Amino acid sequence: MNPYLAAIDQGTTSTRCLIFDRQGREIARAQREHRQFYPRPGWVEHDPLEILAQTQAVVAGALERAGLGPSQLAAVGIANQRETVVLWERETGRPVHNAIVWQDTRTAELCGRLAGEFGQDRFRARTGLPIATYFSGPKLGWLLDHVEGARARAERGELLCGTIDTWLIWNLSGGPRGGVHITDPSNASRTLLMDLARLEWDAGLLEAMAIPRPLLPEIHASSEVYGVCAGSLSGVPLAGDLGDQQAALFGQGCFAPGEAKNTYGTGCFMLLNTGREPVVSRQGLLTTVAYRLGSEPPVYALEGSVAVTGALVQWLRDNLGLIDSAAEVETLAATVADNGGIYIVPAFSGLFAPYWRGDARGAIVGLTRYVNKGHFARAALEAAAYQTREILDAMRDETGQALAELKVDGGMVANDLLMGFQADLLGMPVVRPAIAETTALGAAYAAGLAVGFWRDVDELRGLWRRDRVWSPTMAPATRECLYADWKKAVTRTFDWVE
Ligand code: G3P
Repeated sequence: MNPYLAAIDQGTTSTRCLIFDRQGREIARAQREHRQFYPRPGWVEHDPLEILAQTQAVVAGALERAGLGPSQLAAVGIANQRETVVLWERETGRPVHNAIVWQDTRTAELCGRLAGEFGQDRFRARTGLPIATYFSGPKLGWLLDHVEGARARAERGELLCGTIDTWLIWNLSGGPRGGVHITDPSNASRTLLMDLARLEWDAGLLEAMAIPRPLLPEIHASSEVYGVCAGSLSGVPLAGDLGDQQAALFGQGCFAPGEAKNTYGTGCFMLLNTGREPVVSRQGLLTTVAYRLGSEPPVYALEGSVAVTGALVQWLRDNLGLIDSAAEVETLAATVADNGGIYIVPAFSGLFAPYWRGDARGAIVGLTRYVNKGHFARAALEAAAYQTREILDAMRDETGQALAELKVDGGMVANDLLMGFQADLLGMPVVRPAIAETTALGAAYAAGLAVGFWRDVDELRGLWRRDRVWSPTMAPATRECLYADWKKAVTRTFDWVE
């Protein structure tokens, strides 16, 4: 068995490739950002060819840094930003439009129509999801309706579509020359098109959104050999495919029902493993597939999705120029003792869980002449913690079980001030693992299991180590007072757009 695994982590703002050894230790990595396009308020696009080029570059970069060639890799796994949709030509591999990103709200009207005609309940019962602009099916519908000739070409079988995993796997395995056109249930369960119980595309839902079936990829397991790579990874089995948040759950070793993690990235996503049965939510959580290993039955999760956490820090940097780098937010926040009474509710794409309010837009409340930029930095960090608290409360109400501690990962967990505040606000310990790159690790685990690099999930569980724990110190009365003010601030964002 070759001694290393490669994982590609294709995220909303950047693409990374990490090489791991058998102990799950990182050997090397490379990372590149890609451009964000905002053609209109609420619209967000990526260039699929740029993402592909960055992927190829980071794979080559990571291999070079590790001093390895593809022949020393046992397999490669992919974790990807979810829900983002690409539509491309089967013959040439050329996208017919930019990718429509998960944060994009252009399908609001279509979603309103679907909710009116078919009812939220029908979609939730079949797919585990509310009808919202977040998910991929309506984005694909928009492309078919708005790109000239796309629907006719799709019906003639000339086009293919997929989320970013599908786009990358098709290209890495040969593209127009024999590329495999597949996805996995963790990604397919985010489309509003998949039957959550059968893990198959649902004919009724395809009809409701007028999606021609031949466009869609085959749904395979999350851990399985799909094919082999061509190009710079020539001959390496492609063997893992997980949506990035499910990959982080897997990389955190949350293999048993009741185990959960929270990832602080562009957005923030808490997933709770609920085992073999999908749990239907009454609290605004999503029911989603966590993973499916080979021919085993799937494992499900409840998810609390928050659209904007790290993206708010980027906004302070890029749009307001308040800081020069994302890391600086902590230094600036530390210049003040508290938020000075202000709350930033970053409802840039409406509010996701637990509200699902497409009509919400961001608000900054509590401003007085006293407030300075340190308070802005602090309120931006605290927004991540407050939104996490809302999700955790919903999970507790939904399952009747309280977590003993919260496992965390993602870029923002390097932020000591945020993690300390998070522990205070939850009133529970917050735990960071030694290998913080859980998303890439989860993709590597999925690929490694498929090729026998690791034996089973028990072996993977043994690789998890804690690095740091933040324990709560805030008085419960203070915590509840702050949280009540946050909840009040959230109500100020509602009903902003029709
Ligand atoms: O559902 C969207 C999510 O997959 C994005 O994750 O890490 O790219 O912000 P990230």
